[in-house]
Amino acid sequence: MQIKTVGVLGCGLMGSGIAQVCAAAGYKTIVREVEQSFLDKGLGRVRKFLEDGVAKGKVTVEARDKTLAHLSGATAVDALKDCDLVIEAIIENLDEKRKTYAALEQVVGTHTIFLSNTSSLCITELAAATARPDRFGGLHFFNPVPLMKLVEVIRALTTSDDTYQTVFAFAQSLGKEPITAPDRPGFIVNRLLVPYLLDAIRAYENGLGTLEDIDKGMKLGCGYPMGPFTLLDFVGLDTTYYIANIMFEEFREPAYAPPPLLKRMVLAGRLGRKSGQGFYLYGS
Ligand code: CAA
Repeated sequence: MQIKTVGVLGCGLMGSGIAQVCAAAGYKTIVREVEQSFLDKGLGRVRKFLEDGVAKGKVTVEARDKTLAHLSGATAVDALKDCDLVIEAIIENLDEKRKTYAALEQVVGTHTIFLSNTSSLCITELAAATARPDRFGGLHFFNPVPLMKLVEVIRALTTSDDTYQTVFAFAQSLGKEPITAPDRPGFIVNRLLVPYLLDAIRAYENGLGTLEDIDKGMKLGCGYPMGPFTLLDFVGLDTTYYIANIMFEEFREPAYAPPPLLKRMVLAGRLGRKSGQGFYLYGS
């Protein structure tokens, strides 16, 4: 199946990045948000990334213009009616996703493939909420989407071979390196990353060292681009807490249980970079 037009649902941090890489790869891309202000913010983020890229000499003026020419925004679901493939990157809420898929199914063709960028929900459950469980899969990107090479391709129990192959080839066409991950909480990367991050919090609570020393240790000792607390603030403490709870619910193993400090920081609104404070303080 040939993919020409791509839809992206949600223009937040992930959705805007996904829309950007699809447009940069030459697909006609339409990104949909529920409110014009959210759309403006997300598209502004894409423009800024491309401008910064040009300033750094990493993006050519032609590539910037080509990406922007392929990308458009909309608030009506109807704008996605000609899409061959739609990637959903909305809020991690099953009911909201169900409602969005139902609205989308009213406007798209029967051939259209639906993909979710969820980092924690069950792909088979999402697929079952649609009338096209064989044309449904997971496509999990990493933040920051334009820079991170990896994409996880997840097959639901119902995903057809054709859909899987089309999606894998599509991920490659975006210039990404896809891997096949199982439909289990955390897929491959978060299954290993989240227990590590939770363990770092537990170790810190138990007095292993200062935040700065633990971060420096893992960064310089292991060659990780960020230490665990910098990464937690970058990913978002609420996001990590949410994923950990889903993993713990499924596996019932202590390694996935969110530590008390993580829960309290989320309750206090210390969500990381996005709220101005997490393990570290941000902004002025
Ligand atoms: N346009 C084009 N290229 C750009 C750019 C732009 N606007 N901005 C930066 N770049 C390029 C830089 O030029 C640089 O390229 P080179 O390596 O070729 O020099 C590269 O991107 C890195 O940029 P910076 O030097 O500005 O920044 P950095 O070296 O500090 O790296 C980072 C930033 C990529 C975020 C790095 O810190 C990193 O990889 N961190 C870890 C991120 C991570 O783990 N993400 C996954 C989170 S988990 C997740 O997302 C899944 C989930 O479900 C929760």
